[in-house]
Formats: sequence, structure tokens, C-alpha cells
Amino acid sequence: MEYRHTPVLLAEVTQHLSLHPGSIIVDCTLGGAGHAKRITASIAPTGTLVGIDQDDAALTAAEITLRLGQQIKENDVRIVLLKGNFGDLNTLLPQAGIASVDGFLFDLGVSSPQLDLPDRGFTYQEDALLDMRMDSSGPITAHDVVNTYEQSQLARVLREYGEERWASRIAEFIVAARGRHSIETTGDLVEIIKAAVPAAARKGGPHPARRTFQALRIEVNGELDVLRKGLHSAVPWLAPGGRIAVISYHSLEDRIVKRIFTELSTGCTCPPDFPVCRCGVKPVLRIVTRRPVVPSETEIEANPRARSAKLRVAERI
Ligand SMILES: C[S@@+](CC[C@H](N)C(=O)[O-])C[C@H]1O[C@@H](n2cnc3c(N)ncnc32)[C@H](O)[C@@H]1O
Repeated sequence: MEYRHTPVLLAEVTQHLSLHPGSIIVDCTLGGAGHAKRITASIAPTGTLVGIDQDDAALTAAEITLRLGQQIKENDVRIVLLKGNFGDLNTLLPQAGIASVDGFLFDLGVSSPQLDLPDRGFTYQEDALLDMRMDSSGPITAHDVVNTYEQSQLARVLREYGEERWASRIAEFIVAARGRHSIETTGDLVEIIKAAVPAAARKGGPHPARRTFQALRIEVNGELDVLRKGLHSAVPWLAPGGRIAVISYHSLEDRIVKRIFTELSTGCTCPPDFPVCRCGVKPVLRIVTRRPVVPSETEIEANPRARSAKLRVAERI
């Protein structure tokens, strides 16, 4: 099946990574290699592209795009594709045989094929088994979460990761439903959510299952923890002047990126009333984008999934 994903903020990412021939770039979320393909063209000849993804289907698609693509001539760019989680950069990057990196790209979340293929269990638009793992060998599925978490744990996940105002009620309805029989499919779950959210609150807004599905996906893939881990492990690999670019798609992710960039560009953590610095912490990043870069109206019109994208970029001092 064809892997169709339109890269978001493509020109802006390429510009902000300040690519040049010979650059060593790590695309931590390779997907279908939409960004990576453009990157390889800008770092040829002699550049290196390391592409990481935890999804086998993405890696297969990316390999076809990059290695069989007409755009780059053979041997112009060294391409290393690695299956893994970007939370494990410190074990993945040594496998690529590089000593430092000129640019990292994190294009967070799921790809269009992950969302659109019902058998991945991410979509509330079609009925499928509840899965939601980006890495199909991952330890927990959405089925495990909805059928085994305690009610209070479920409510916390929906509240924190979905910012769902009906979290407690949805959790209560899930626990009642699974008491009758286990919840097997995305369709079963959507019906439970619809029953839990009052009709008046469902009117006019987005799909009532949207926030719950986002929350489950984040929980199943540990997305926020690996984002923190990934950013913190990437920065020490950056060469001076090297850049890190992150595209996020919801406020929870964007807040984490903003906070980590601010923390690493601030340095000293001594209380403000200390006359001299005692902690010795020095800033390691300079923030390049004071405000996040967002897609143009034209891009959003052509690719509605770009709507919520925010790009933040920082540079290693
Ligand atoms: C938005 S898509 C990237 C699309 C890509 N930039 C393109 O242009 O085709 C996100 C990809 O990152 C992968 N991904 C998400 N979180 C990951 C993680 N923690 N480690 C490795 N891959 C991850 C997903 O499997 C998915 O393929």
C-alpha cells in the first residue's frame, strides 16, 4: 500500500536547519521521509542523513523514497536508517558511526498512514481493534489501557493527556462498560464516549472522541516522556552552531519543547537574590525562533493536518 504523508512546514524546516553540503543531520521521526528527502538534496554531496523511526512501515516507505528516489545520485549522501525510539538516541547514534550532529529534526506525533489505516487502531473514524502503538512490538496497547487501568488512572490519563473536561465521566462509563464485556474496538469506545459526554456538550465541537483518542495514544506510546528524554539527549550531540528543530501538534508537546529550550538557554539556576552565581550552569542553547513558526493559510488549505503545527528551533552555543 502506498505511504502518503505530506511533510509539514517543509521550506521552513529546511531553512531553519541551515543545511549545507556535508552536514550531518538526524531526522528522529523519519515517517515517509518527506522532510528527509528534501534534506538529503541540501546536504549533498558528502552529507550524512541518519533517519530514525519506531514504525517498521515508515522505515520501509522511507527506504524506498530515499534509496530509490531519483533526486539524489548514489553515494552523494550517506544514509543510515535505524529502527528505534528517539528517546534512545544515546544508543542509536553510536550505531550510525557519527561523532557529532549539525541538525536534529523532530516532527512529532503520528503520520497520516498511521492515522488513516484502520488496523493501526488510531482512528475514531472507523471501527478497528484498539491498538495505537507506533512500534507494533511495544509493550502496551490502547486495549490494555481501557480494559485494565483503574478508573482513577484512566481519568487522570484523559484529563492530563487529552485535556478532556469530561474525563471522570468517560472513565466511569468505560469501567461500567467493560464490567459487562471487554472493550474490543475503536467503535465500541466511541459509542461509550458518546454516551458519557452530554449531547449539549457534543454539539458543534470537534468529534467527542478526539481528546480521549489523543490521550490514549500519548499514554500507549509514552509520548511526553520520550519527548523530554529525546530533546535532552539530542542537545549534547550538537556541534557548536548545530540546530535542533521540533514540530509539535498540540499544546502539551509545545509546552515541553518551549520549557526545555528556555531552560537550556538560560543557564544559571541560582535564586535571583544570590549576588554571584554558585551553580555554575551555563546556557548551551540559543533560541532561534522566539515565537513558534506556524504554517501559512495556503499550506493549511492544501494540508489541513498542518493546522496545529508549531515549529521551534534552537542552536547549540
Ligand atoms: C509526523 S510523522 C513524520 C513524518 C515525516 N517528517 C515525513 O515528512 O514523512 C511522525 C513519525 O515519527 C515516528 N515517531 C513518533 N514518535 C517517535 C519516537 N519516539 N521514536 C521514533 N519514531 C517516532 C512515527 O512513527 C511517525 O512515523
